[in-house]
Amino acid sequence: MTQPNVTTWRGYGKHEMLVDTNHDEASRIDFMMNLFKHMGSEIWPGHRKLYENKVEPAFKKAHGRKPKDRHEVREVMLDEEYFRLWSMLRVYAQENIYSERRNIVERQLDDLVARAKPRESDKGTVEIDPNFVAPRYQTNLDMHWMPGGYANEVTQDDVAAGAMYDTGGLYVSTGGMFGKYNNGAAYAVVAWIQENFPRLKPKRILDQGCTVGHNTLPYKDAWPDAEVIGIDIGGPGLRYAHRRAESLGYKVTFSQQNAEATKYEDESFDMVLSTMFLHETSNKAVYNIVKENRRLLKPGGLMLHVEQPPFEKIAEPFDQLMKDWDTHNNNEPFWGRMHDMDLEDVALRAGFKKSDIVQTFAPTVTPTESDKYNRGNGQWFMFAATK
Ligand SMILES: C[S@@+](CC[C@H](N)C(=O)[O-])C[C@H]1O[C@@H](n2cnc3c(N)ncnc32)[C@H](O)[C@@H]1O
Repeated sequence: MTQPNVTTWRGYGKHEMLVDTNHDEASRIDFMMNLFKHMGSEIWPGHRKLYENKVEPAFKKAHGRKPKDRHEVREVMLDEEYFRLWSMLRVYAQENIYSERRNIVERQLDDLVARAKPRESDKGTVEIDPNFVAPRYQTNLDMHWMPGGYANEVTQDDVAAGAMYDTGGLYVSTGGMFGKYNNGAAYAVVAWIQENFPRLKPKRILDQGCTVGHNTLPYKDAWPDAEVIGIDIGGPGLRYAHRRAESLGYKVTFSQQNAEATKYEDESFDMVLSTMFLHETSNKAVYNIVKENRRLLKPGGLMLHVEQPPFEKIAEPFDQLMKDWDTHNNNEPFWGRMHDMDLEDVALRAGFKKSDIVQTFAPTVTPTESDKYNRGNGQWFMFAATK
């Protein structure tokens, strides 16, 4: 079994924007990471036992059939203390790690803001639009309980949201499974593209919803001569991403834009990509984004969005419910609806041909020092189309 290569916060990938943490802060981050792992490995499996041994038999007895979908499973699981307790603990853990991260970032925010400022020696650029209006599906809530979400700015040239995101966010909740730079998703994208489209040699790549660029920079590793651009609606993440990329030696452009309607010309990209992005938008936005993607692609170009699998690809209603947890508990209201969407219809309406649309699974990647493409145990869902 492949094991994640980082198991403590002190082992997290260093760069110039990374916050300083004292002993207690680092210990608390490690405690939360281990709590998430414990919940996943020790408590989570109890749900299946409970469901198979008690909840499903009781449902069958009462209705003469099994629950038909995740909504019916949820209704009966909500009566179970074990399920409710697990949910409460998971929400507590999420809120707790955010309040920890917020304190860490706040006490050094002035310093982080100063560090992020563009310098003459920079290779790449960051473009912030002073008149930018972020979409309401992002500004109307604190996405996955992140205080202020991605777009909120609390100070001049703010980087707080970016710093909070990178201070043990996904790293804590996934137990380091995406590697010490949190970039395993992009290496999974690269591996899949190189295997399935070996002749594609992109000159220009767009990464949408790039946040702090975790999964933007690996595209430069894979295709060093390509121009790589990361866009996002959140200025704080982009400023942070810029300095992070510079200090790690990458030349990338980060730009504040809405992926639904970008400033780029028709047919100006060879690849338009995203990782863990679509589920944080809206139904209408997904249609707009895919349409915009087709407009941006050169003939022969590739669109690829990486997500969790749609519910229709998950056979058992119980497993569907467990994948739907974030909709009800993690302040991610579009999560469930997005995973119910007919993505083929989305791509067809954007103008892609049926024969050019791909929906498939690909292995996760946990990069290690010696192998950036080290395959993990999990699976990503790939929604792709060529023009
Ligand atoms: C879960 S994060 C994505 C993480 C990132 N792709 C990664 O792999 O590390 C979702 C990101 O999408 C951004 N976002 C949401 N709606 C957007 C839009 N319409 N256009 C561009 N970015 C958007 C958010 O600001 C946030 O940074």
